[in-house]
Amino acid sequence: MKTYLVTGGAGFIGSNFVLYMLKKYNDVKIINVDVLTYAGNLENLKSVENNPNYKFVQANICDKDAITKIFEENEVDYVVNFAAESHVDRSIKNPEIFAETNVLGTVNMLNCAKNSWETETGWKEGVKFLHVSTDEVYGSLGETGFFMETTPLDPHSPYSSSKAGSDLMVKAYGDTYKMPINITRCSNNYGPYQFPEKLIPLVINNCLNKKPIPVYGDGMNIRDWLYVEDHCKAIDMVIRDGRLGEVYNVGGHNERNNMHIVKTIIEYVHDNVDSTVDESLITYVEDRKGHDRRYGIDPTKIKEELGWYPETPYEEGIKLTIKWFLDNKEWIENVTSGAYQNYYEKMYEGK
Ligand code: NAD
Ligand code: TYD
Repeated sequence: MKTYLVTGGAGFIGSNFVLYMLKKYNDVKIINVDVLTYAGNLENLKSVENNPNYKFVQANICDKDAITKIFEENEVDYVVNFAAESHVDRSIKNPEIFAETNVLGTVNMLNCAKNSWETETGWKEGVKFLHVSTDEVYGSLGETGFFMETTPLDPHSPYSSSKAGSDLMVKAYGDTYKMPINITRCSNNYGPYQFPEKLIPLVINNCLNKKPIPVYGDGMNIRDWLYVEDHCKAIDMVIRDGRLGEVYNVGGHNERNNMHIVKTIIEYVHDNVDSTVDESLITYVEDRKGHDRRYGIDPTKIKEELGWYPETPYEEGIKLTIKWFLDNKEWIENVTSGAYQNYYEKMYEGK
């Protein structure tokens, strides 16, 4: 029985990962540590809350005492570090909390893991710290080429810079103390439970409410979309079989410009839900500051070493996603309602 300390497990990818692991394995124990910001929602995990192999602890990854206590009370085999402030637009408005959670929080997690796992002769058998990062640390591509694991880091936004900072601290613990680590860098995820501030759920939500769809700049920025379940599978594989100290890029081989994404969703809603929804909702707005033009991942390493590939074609993934949001309108209402927003404002007052 392996015990996974999953941070940020009430967020989008984290909750998909917890559900994926508990569905796939009977012999894993998951401790979900999440402070529950606006982006964390325990409703995502309702189906597993009584599962004896699952436990939730509300705590901040920056809180040394709380995280130390979790390590003291449990035999943790793996840390999977999802917890982060994750939205670029918020980072442009409010960079400090990104440095605090993403960099200092990760360092605290590393330190607490080190204190628990380091022995006189090395490291406890079989442990690993997996840090979930992003392709945004590589910066922006021109019209050609892909991000490789060897591509130099060149982040631009406060979000991607804070993720690059946390990546480098994870690397430092691997290089300096020989801590068993892996870093994964994935492209843009989409799927169930994504907070409707990110492009895909925001467009779906606005279509359903017939609200204007804000398209930044010329709408031709490109992202490499990855269905979240395929990402969860990659993380599971890297924890089990990834070579220690290595970085693995995880990408969907699925580059689309933003306008394409917007039009696909409008068309689906028009054809299947409400024929009055059409492209007149598209509203060009001022471009995001420092907006990265193109992301595209070369996932050859994870494919060749671990046999991973993105199984869900975009056409299928986007339909599954739209259907999920149609079936879970109450979820959207809950996560965008006052209670969550107020909690967030209160917690980060003055930052
Ligand atoms: P999310 O914003 O949906 O969820 C983040 C979770 O972390 C929330 O549950 C939140 O409550 C929790 N959290 C935030 N601050 C915390 C703190 N100080 N202590 C404890 N918990 C805290 O994010 P996501 O989209 O699920 O992303 C998860 C990870 O994957 C992040 O590290 C992100 O950088 C990375 N990533 C995401 C994407 C994507 O497309 N969503 C792409 C690449 C990488
Ligand atoms: P986003 O989902 O915020 O992910 P990221 O910036 O981390 O890649 O944005 C995806 C793309 O969509 C990005 O190019 C910005 C653009 N975008 C819009 O055009 N309008 C929007 O309302 C949002 C949220 C994003």
